[in-house]
Amino acid sequence: MPKITYVEHGGSEHVVEVSTGLTVMEGARDNNIPGIDADCGGACACSTCHVYVHRDWVEKLPAREPMEEDMLDFAYEPDPVRSRLTCQLKVTDALDGLVVQMPEKQI
Ligand code: FES
Repeated sequence: MPKITYVEHGGSEHVVEVSTGLTVMEGARDNNIPGIDADCGGACACSTCHVYVHRDWVEKLPAREPMEEDMLDFAYEPDPVRSRLTCQLKVTDALDGLVVQMPEKQI
């Protein structure tokens, strides 16, 4: 199972295994990791599952769909390069080792 590292804004790290087919958001939710609210339940309609992807991973992830781009405008302090909505990131074996950092707060 792919391992994903979630880093809280304060620096606490959570390394968890997430089943393929789930989303990065669901991996956080199912492991009770704080910092990802996911208010809309994964419908790409709230932006509260926002994270900053580690720089080493930016190019390895599938590109953002237009809906994710639009919704990121409503996220807290989005970064033009590193920001992603975790409900739009499907976990695959290729994501093993992914590192994401939560923002200071969700909206
Ligand atoms: Fe609402 Fe991702 S959970 S946009």
